[in-house]
Amino acid sequence: MGKFDSIIQKMTVEEKLGQMSQLMAECFGEEDCGTLMGISYGFEVKPELAWNLGSVLGMSGAKRVKDVQKTYLEKSTHKIPLMFMHDVIHGFRTSFPSPIGMACTWEPELVEKASAVAAKEASVSGVHLTFSPMADLARDARWGRVIEGNGEDPLLNCQYSVARVKGYQGDNIRDKYRMASCVKHFAGYGAAESGRDYNTTEISDYQLKESYLPAYKAAIDAGCKMVMTAFNALNGVPCTGNKWLYEELLRGEWGFKGSVITDCTALYELIPHGYAENPAQAAKLALETGVDIEMVSTAYFNEIPKLIAEGKIDEALLDTAVERILELKEELGLFENPYKDADEEEEKRWHVCAEHRALAREIAARSMVLLKNDNHVLPIQEKEKVALVGPFATTDTMIDIWKCMAKPEECVTFFDGMKDRVELVAAEGCAMTEQEGEEALMAEAVEAAKQCDTVILALGEHPSLSAEAGSRAYLTLPENQQKLAKKILELGKKTVLVLFNGRPLELGFLNEEVDSILVAWYPGTEAGNALADVLLGDVNPSGRLSISFPYTLGQVPIYYNALPTGRPKGSDDNPERFTSRYVDAPNDAAYPFGYGLSYGEVSYGELSISNDKMTAEDTITATMEVTNLGDREVMETVQLYLRDMGGSYSRPVKMLKDYQKITLQPGEKRTITFNIDAEMLKYNTRENGYTYEEGTFRVFVGPNSSVKDYKEFVLVS
Ligand code: BGC
Repeated sequence: MGKFDSIIQKMTVEEKLGQMSQLMAECFGEEDCGTLMGISYGFEVKPELAWNLGSVLGMSGAKRVKDVQKTYLEKSTHKIPLMFMHDVIHGFRTSFPSPIGMACTWEPELVEKASAVAAKEASVSGVHLTFSPMADLARDARWGRVIEGNGEDPLLNCQYSVARVKGYQGDNIRDKYRMASCVKHFAGYGAAESGRDYNTTEISDYQLKESYLPAYKAAIDAGCKMVMTAFNALNGVPCTGNKWLYEELLRGEWGFKGSVITDCTALYELIPHGYAENPAQAAKLALETGVDIEMVSTAYFNEIPKLIAEGKIDEALLDTAVERILELKEELGLFENPYKDADEEEEKRWHVCAEHRALAREIAARSMVLLKNDNHVLPIQEKEKVALVGPFATTDTMIDIWKCMAKPEECVTFFDGMKDRVELVAAEGCAMTEQEGEEALMAEAVEAAKQCDTVILALGEHPSLSAEAGSRAYLTLPENQQKLAKKILELGKKTVLVLFNGRPLELGFLNEEVDSILVAWYPGTEAGNALADVLLGDVNPSGRLSISFPYTLGQVPIYYNALPTGRPKGSDDNPERFTSRYVDAPNDAAYPFGYGLSYGEVSYGELSISNDKMTAEDTITATMEVTNLGDREVMETVQLYLRDMGGSYSRPVKMLKDYQKITLQPGEKRTITFNIDAEMLKYNTRENGYTYEEGTFRVFVGPNSSVKDYKEFVLVS
């Protein structure tokens, strides 16, 4: 007997399918919310869906949501409240940096705090569930959605995914200022072939288990309430109809009890995938896969009644899906209070309030990664005359495409953040993407630069070049921006490049020719203030890359935790021909995973380990002395990597296993200790499942994934 049996028994097939349908906010009439526009993204919406609908995508605003909910409850038969779901990806009204930027903090606690703020701002605006975290591991910088994820490392990906779930949901999603979270896109969406969005994926069972699945699983284990299907086909079977993925793995092996929603129109897309021949077949396949809610397309509502009438589908499948949906509504407390936290006064109180701005500023500053700082050009001295040049100098475009309800005009621009701190002139120089006749703009920028000591080049990608459907076949800055940079460099001034980007970029000549490079990603509402904090040295940069930057596109996909080859490349100076390498480019990344500088220098001593033998019951320690050689306080992220030298599978050349982000005072020396136990050595072995295998392991401790020195120990029985 399920909890909702009595209500489900009274529901008609249409009423059940209504619960299993989600329409976009745009489908609702402005005045009378019951007037559903007859079309949703090109799909027919039958009028009967109006008072049976289960959830709404992308509607928010306390007043609007309450009005729609009230009218709906008055008109619907069973008085089951609507659920309002939204893409609250990195903030609701206060925008935090893009997820890839936040992942460079190496501080999941900050991401949890930001997610709690997002939940507060969204919940007072009537949102019940966010389509976040995106736990898709990404190794291909061409893929636009690199920006929405946590980068290339499974451990960080797990930690940030969990932090988001906890931040949104708190201890109980029914609590005030909390919302439910939906992990996406299950599974393997980040492995889109050639980095082209929506493209197919081929991921071996080994890689799936080791690299791609752990973060979804971690989010689910953290209590995430919903799972979204992915657009891609995984090893030949589109995810939205992939029974192995949903029935066997998610609900079977992992025991997930929550609901599953399709990605936007992904159910219908089983047809162009060549997996279903018509909407009826698509609906049947998805239903039998265990997909509870269809987002935006309408095959469930329009096709399933006939399939049931013809005896082709068992109505009990609908009951199971509806049960799960009602369970979530109950968990959110909607049966008692269908408006939950929606409140106009609270919106005024919390949206973009000073407290939220302060956190956004702190996180934005911590997400920036300093890639280069020759001659200590940074931090900029207060007395310096600075030219701020480039398309990101004065724009309020400081947020990526997922800006949710954030308003660009509420962003602190780069210029506004800097203008009271230094003597500043600004010039756009060129547009974000090439325009006709930019010579005058460039000339103006050169003139501005001539009068100054230091030039900051504020360059980057227009936000439309990343995020969903923002895949790129080139990773360079647009030609016009490169041209502007060359003109500025000809002046021979101190030049700082600040990048606004959604992915690793190929920087080419800029790597060599500018003095300093700061990756700012899209910093969000407090962009300008955070940039000033870092560039002027109030905040010593501490971001570390969560994804590798290549020298050149031909190296992509490039990631630090690759499997070894039988012919590893030897020394760079005299490489053997018949080894795994490029004849025309290095193997290494331009800036590897884990990399980032601060103002000042931290030195690493010699690694020692407490024992060169260990049993599965033991713990050994790895110890490293780090010293702040500079005259400023620094935050250093000391990283522990391991390599398993022989296993029943070939094991990655390095894997991040732990890290400590510490603060060091000027001159301070600190001994950092990591514990290593058998749990850290486990992986998905060929025959014995998730366990460790005896043999030799290498331990590396250093400032980033390129660390070379190691010590070895042997795991014995
Ligand atoms: C995206 C999802 C998003 C959904 C709802 C889709 O196009 O792939 O990530 O949550 O739209 O807006």
